Amino acid sequence: MASPAPLDRAALERSVAPFGFSRNLPQEAYTSKAVLNWELRHLYESAWVCVGRADDLAQPGDYRAIRIGDDGIILGRDDVGTLRGFYNVCSHRAHELIEPGQCTSSRHLRCAYHGWTYNLDGSLKVAPRASDLPGFDPAVFGLPPARVELWHGWVFVNASGDAPPLADWVGDLEEIVAPYAPERLRLGAEKTYDVATNWKLIHENYHECYHCPTIHPQLCRVSPPDSGVNIDRSGAWIGGSMSLAEHAVTMSMNGASNGAMLPGLSTEQRRKLEYYAVLPNIFISLHPDYVLTHRIEPVEPGRTRIECQWLFPPEAFEKENFSPDYAFEFWDLTNLQDWKAIESVHRGVSSRGYRPGPLAPKEDAVYRFVTRIARAYLDGGISLAAPAPAALR
Ligand SMILES: [Fe+2]
Repeated sequence: MASPAPLDRAALERSVAPFGFSRNLPQEAYTSKAVLNWELRHLYESAWVCVGRADDLAQPGDYRAIRIGDDGIILGRDDVGTLRGFYNVCSHRAHELIEPGQCTSSRHLRCAYHGWTYNLDGSLKVAPRASDLPGFDPAVFGLPPARVELWHGWVFVNASGDAPPLADWVGDLEEIVAPYAPERLRLGAEKTYDVATNWKLIHENYHECYHCPTIHPQLCRVSPPDSGVNIDRSGAWIGGSMSLAEHAVTMSMNGASNGAMLPGLSTEQRRKLEYYAVLPNIFISLHPDYVLTHRIEPVEPGRTRIECQWLFPPEAFEKENFSPDYAFEFWDLTNLQDWKAIESVHRGVSSRGYRPGPLAPKEDAVYRFVTRIARAYLDGGISLAAPAPAALR
């Protein structure tokens, strides 16, 4: 049974009005704890959430405990290296197997409360003295499996267990991302930002370059801010491409690359940047020589953790003077320019003076995001069907 978000229905109907006539989301969508709780249940637990790179769990026995909304999941590699996920709950008295946020590397998963011990495939190995119980069958008391899938080196988890298959969730984005082969890329740099803004304002900012001429002078030198083209295909994602300036081969301060071009890209792909947000929580920015991701974790209505990773091909690391700094410094500066703006926007949407405003013609992808979220608020969850904005008249 669909459960709509605790928001004014008339305000949401205004947000899904045709492009050019719509209004932004109501204030409570950004400031209410009840709305964030609804979102964690209906837009995060019920979705495929990216929880990081598979490389972080490299060896058999590596396990990590994460939280998605109100649920806890452990992810790791079993004895033969297969990626596995389990709910983080002992079959005995429900103590967590691993403390949230912690990692382990062991031959077994042992509960710290009474010592019940599981094999890496989740089957129960030892339950101290429980075998004295009449008819005790260890096969019944394995760890409950959770849905975990890999996509191009990224690990996705569906906590509720009932999202559509991940292949449907990413839909046609597969075709766009595959030539970049992100699964073979390695981590060159990472940085985590703690930003005083609502998580949706980070999406809204990512989806337009209308603000680029005013706050990103360095970006505008290497990519014309009006070159964006957004697309509508199947899947729970939003985005499109932008062009490189004539002198630039990638996004860096001077447009030069200190890395190595990704093999397998067409001439056209080498002149473009591709920017996609897979709902609800990862931005994938495809460059001719590296891939940047922003992974978003809402903490409070007005606080979000953003983990950025810069991924490079193995050929770059083989170069004698390779440093990821050319890509890192460019996007770190751009990020900080963006965070300053959207922290200001968060204070603005929290004001008594806030009235949901209209979207400009260049903000068509913001419209796509706002309407998908507003529809999810009305319908109870994210739909895979992308609503295309009708052309402005
Ligand atoms: Fe920006």
